[in-house]
Amino acid sequence: RVPIVAMASGTGSLLAALIERAAAPSSSFRVAAVVIDRDCAAREIGEAAGLPVVVCRLGDHPDRDAWDRQLLAEVDRFAPDWVVTAGFMKILGPAFLGRFAGRVVNSHPALLPAFPGAHGVADALAYGVKVTGTTVHLVDGGVDTGPILAQATVPVLPDDTVDTLHERIKISERELLPDVVEAVVTRGVVTDGRKAQIS
Ligand code: GAR
Repeated sequence: RVPIVAMASGTGSLLAALIERAAAPSSSFRVAAVVIDRDCAAREIGEAAGLPVVVCRLGDHPDRDAWDRQLLAEVDRFAPDWVVTAGFMKILGPAFLGRFAGRVVNSHPALLPAFPGAHGVADALAYGVKVTGTTVHLVDGGVDTGPILAQATVPVLPDDTVDTLHERIKISERELLPDVVEAVVTRGVVTDGRKAQIS
């Protein structure tokens, strides 16, 4: 099976969905390791699955570049073909993306290019959109700007709060992200300018 490294910063429900999919007999990928940048519930999820969990904190490094290089070194130890950011709340730097260019997949809780950044759910709700969703995309040097691989829509309901809407979006992410990871590890991605297509 194709090794991937999953990176997370939060409650780890997307990570859990990836681990669960990887355990399915039909899966073409395995989660070789989990990398986190802070103490978070994703650590317990990785450990409970018997996976190596590596912590790489920005604050333990003199600057962002040093952190980025260390992150790369930690991930490289597991020689993954793909890296999946599953609720990883930091921007990857040039060393990391240079090494894994075109092989980092991210899930974002909005329909990009609308509402990028760390507050995509709140921004969409505040704007008053009636439909939002989830986007799985390749990571480039920008904030949620990389080529889109797949999207799924989620309705905004009249009584939604940021939390209720985000939970509904995450249900969608927990299906779409493992589906896309399975597709890219088996079929690969073709890019054409800013567009990407699963082969
Ligand atoms: C997900 O909604 C993911 O798209 C988002 O964090 C959540 C993680 O949930 N990521 C970002 O906003 C990245 N900019 P989880 O911790 O339950 O997996």
